[in-house]
Amino acid sequence: MNKKVLVLSSSPRRKGNSDLLCDQFMSGAKESGNTVEKIFLKDKRINYCTGCGTCLNGKKPCPQKDDMAEILEKMISSDVIVMATPVYFYTMCAQMKTLIDRCCARYTEINDKEFYFIVTAADNNKQSINRTLEEFRGFTSCLDGPKEMGTIFGTGAWNMGDIRNSDAMKIACDMGKLS
Ligand SMILES: Cc1cc2nc3c(=O)[nH]c(=O)nc-3n(C[C@H](O)[C@H](O)[C@H](O)COP(=O)(O)O)c2cc1C
Repeated sequence: MNKKVLVLSSSPRRKGNSDLLCDQFMSGAKESGNTVEKIFLKDKRINYCTGCGTCLNGKKPCPQKDDMAEILEKMISSDVIVMATPVYFYTMCAQMKTLIDRCCARYTEINDKEFYFIVTAADNNKQSINRTLEEFRGFTSCLDGPKEMGTIFGTGAWNMGDIRNSDAMKIACDMGKLS
């Protein structure tokens, strides 16, 4: 299998729980012969969408000069997109939402992608993070031909590294091998 896999790691904590699950997913993906890149969003400058409408009316490029153009290009050219977020107040974190909003300029080109979601939370109850998954689905429902392939639930993880003791580590590596 040689798919292009793009991992979007949005936690502000490098090597935090969701970022560690991203790395696990990546090791599985590499092991099964895929090409993988991770973007740690905190390393990038991604401004808020201002709702100016430039990209909608007349289809002009987004006028903002930051790192989002490069990220969108990578999203469009990938086969698989992995979106990872910590749960903050039972929603996705602001960094991930900011990226999603900035997809406005080119979301009609993010077609036929396979999606995996990674969600970490202190809460032990998987059900309680379904709300965050629904938010991801709000995004993917606006795209053409998305395929939701799987979710890694990193529940019961509060402090940095708590996730190392959980089954989610192996699940992430196995899921990274893709199907
Ligand atoms: C601002 C903030 C809000 C949070 N809100 C929740 C929450 O609503 N539910 C929950 O279970 N955990 C919550 N947490 C805990 C994080 O989801 C948890 O620590 C998670 O493992 C962080 O993932 P990370 O290490 O990838 O950043 C919150 C943490 C922070 C900093």
